[in-house]
Amino acid sequence: MQSMKQVSEKIFGKNAFKTKVIGDCKTCSKPIIEVSGTYPEFMPSNLAGKVYKSRKCGCEDLALARAAEESHKRMLQKKILHIFEQHSIMNEKQKGSTLAAFEPDTETQQKAFQITKDFIADVTSETPTNVLLSGSYGIGKSHLAAAACHEITKAGKTAIFINVPKLLTKFKSTYRKDSEFTEDQLLHMLETVDALVLDDLGANKATDWTDEMLFQIIDSRQGKATFYTTNLTGKELVQLIGDRNMERIKTDTKVLRVEGRSRRDFIAEKDWGF
Ligand SMILES: Nc1ncnc2c1ncn2[C@@H]1O[C@H](COP(=O)(O)OP(=O)(O)OP(=O)(O)O)[C@@H](O)[C@H]1O
Ligand SMILES: [Mg+2]
Ligand SMILES: [Zn+2]
Repeated sequence: MQSMKQVSEKIFGKNAFKTKVIGDCKTCSKPIIEVSGTYPEFMPSNLAGKVYKSRKCGCEDLALARAAEESHKRMLQKKILHIFEQHSIMNEKQKGSTLAAFEPDTETQQKAFQITKDFIADVTSETPTNVLLSGSYGIGKSHLAAAACHEITKAGKTAIFINVPKLLTKFKSTYRKDSEFTEDQLLHMLETVDALVLDDLGANKATDWTDEMLFQIIDSRQGKATFYTTNLTGKELVQLIGDRNMERIKTDTKVLRVEGRSRRDFIAEKDWGF
């Protein structure tokens, strides 16, 4: 088979085009090949006599390789997002939790509502504000966090709502041989999502491993919008997750103790007449 050079020489003559290496490309480190010359007179009039010059290195190949890698990454992210969606990041109730359905009974619930709206508004700003809602059962902490996720995804951004004990279980499952994802891939997802809700922080058993796992997640979220909910007080939470985690959680975070009566009681009253 003839090379392009031979073909071109046959058509244009030996000296019409010169090929030389003019150095190495700083980007791809491959030689830059310059082809230059003058189009012969027998070429169409728009080309004949005109100077031709082109430079080529391995950058095109690199760009292609990069594009393929990016598209693979995006696919994987989509897959992981989908997995989070499927594996009850939210229970059925939370899937339907909206801001509009939230009814503040107390002043702190009203505040929590406002803080949640601010969280949504700032989510992709350069300095997002995190939220930590603490308080007892059934007062709407998870409801607000889930509603925030819905609003954020409606606006075309990404959000993950995940219950912390379930998340830890998910991480454990990545150590299995047949696991679809690695620990790193899950961490990467949690790190790159626009908004992350870590629901029910402190509801997990505390071990060195959970401590370390939480640290990796929380540390990777520094400077990114993160919404925490917990039943524990500050003191209890520190005992469970440690100083190092607590320090990071408190950074750029609006912390609010929410008071209110459990809505679950309301439901029970209706159902059983308590
Ligand atoms: N102020 C409220 N307005 C409307 N619905 C509410 C309100 N508070 C709670 N609910 C509803 O009550 C149920 C329990 O609320 P939610 O799960 O948000 O409680 P929580 O504070 O996260 O409690 P826990 O600490 O047990 O997780 C949900 O179905 C939620 O939609
Ligand atoms: Mg909750
Ligand atoms: Zn190059």
